[in-house]
Amino acid sequence: MVNVVLVGSQWGDEGKGKLVDWLSSQADVIVRFQGGHNAGHTIVIDKDTYKLSLLPSGIVRPEKVCIIGNGVVVDLWKLEEEIESLKLKGIKINSENLKVADNASLILPFHKDLDSIREDSNKKNNIGTTRRGIGPAYEDKVGRRSLRAGDLRDPEMIKKRINLMALHHNPLRAHFGQSLIDEEKVYNDLLKISLKILPYICPVWRYLSDSIKNKKNILFEGAQGALLDIDYGTYPYVTSSNTLAGYASVGSGVGVHNLNYVLGITKAYTTRVGSGPFPTELFDKNFERLAQKGHEIGTVTGRPRRCGWFDSVLVRQITEISGINGLALTKLDVLDGFDEIKVCTKYKLEDRFLDYFPNSIDEQSKVEPVYESIKGWKGSVRGVRSWKDLPKGAQDYVKFLEHLVGINADLVTTSPEREDTILIRSPFS
Ligand code: IMP
Repeated sequence: MVNVVLVGSQWGDEGKGKLVDWLSSQADVIVRFQGGHNAGHTIVIDKDTYKLSLLPSGIVRPEKVCIIGNGVVVDLWKLEEEIESLKLKGIKINSENLKVADNASLILPFHKDLDSIREDSNKKNNIGTTRRGIGPAYEDKVGRRSLRAGDLRDPEMIKKRINLMALHHNPLRAHFGQSLIDEEKVYNDLLKISLKILPYICPVWRYLSDSIKNKKNILFEGAQGALLDIDYGTYPYVTSSNTLAGYASVGSGVGVHNLNYVLGITKAYTTRVGSGPFPTELFDKNFERLAQKGHEIGTVTGRPRRCGWFDSVLVRQITEISGINGLALTKLDVLDGFDEIKVCTKYKLEDRFLDYFPNSIDEQSKVEPVYESIKGWKGSVRGVRSWKDLPKGAQDYVKFLEHLVGINADLVTTSPEREDTILIRSPFS
């Protein structure tokens, strides 16, 4: 039995969806442990495309059990919508293969309102959130006023918690010129949706504990990326959850010793959505080329992603903090045809060189990347499925990144198709 944690090692959108789907063929249980429907995973199987935001990517595979852990903030209406749209595509979803933690906090409509109100009220310096209510929902969780999934069984508790949150939210809403929360409406809407969602709600820690005793393989599916981590990311331009691998334990109720292997999903270049520092960001024709070839448009918001060269300082740092054992290098095919590929190997900050990413947002914004160049390769790596079939230049690029980051690539992906993956070492072995 091997339990694998799969996390993004950059700013998200590293191609986790495809890999979770691919790796879930070897797992029995797939668990989301943080974030919410701010995530966006695209899975392509044959000619069918599935876009998932909240459900674990393993849901498209029969015989797998998918779990939404307590570390996730759950928008019930979005969950229902996603379940229904997959059912329409013929995917089987019931309480046997989908389980939602009874202690997961819920995202309610006024969380979404507050997210947007804040973003709009500070257009110049906003975070660039997905406006899904993620931050405000986590604030209420930490503020000990959240409505949690299991509370849906108790109508009195629903009322009480809505009222508690309204006491907190209403002054904020009034300050921004918004109407007060219609508590009755929220209550009635919740009663209605709870009929559909209650069958999935259970103490998932118990299910996971039994799965471990029964030697099942568990795949923990991280969302977003390490540089959006609330503690270790480019604060305040981050999401509101911990995106590092260690949170898989807390966010699902599994002891840390059960997390056996951490796979860091890493794009062969770098992208970011939303505001905040990005040392290797490009603004020239190379940006256009990466954006166009990589289809760098946000899955959730449709916003264009910012693009830049690979930053080995960031990935090395995150590898250490998150405890990444091996890399899954994605979208190598996007670098086809470049004569020269640059990789950031250190930073210059005024008159100093740094081999790490500093903590302050001011310094993070000021560091200048110092690059080493490597020659590109002729031909295309698209669709290549074995290491020996990669052009020598592409092999050299992968080896160069491994050397700089200090760990090996276990997998390399060469197209969005599930099978177009080079397996060097299975994380489940
Ligand atoms: P929030 O998570 O909606 O609060 O957004 C906070 C920041 O995280 C913004 O910069 C978003 O663009 C970014 N973000 C949130 N989820 C994702 C994701 O799944 N991929 C990439 N960026 C994300």
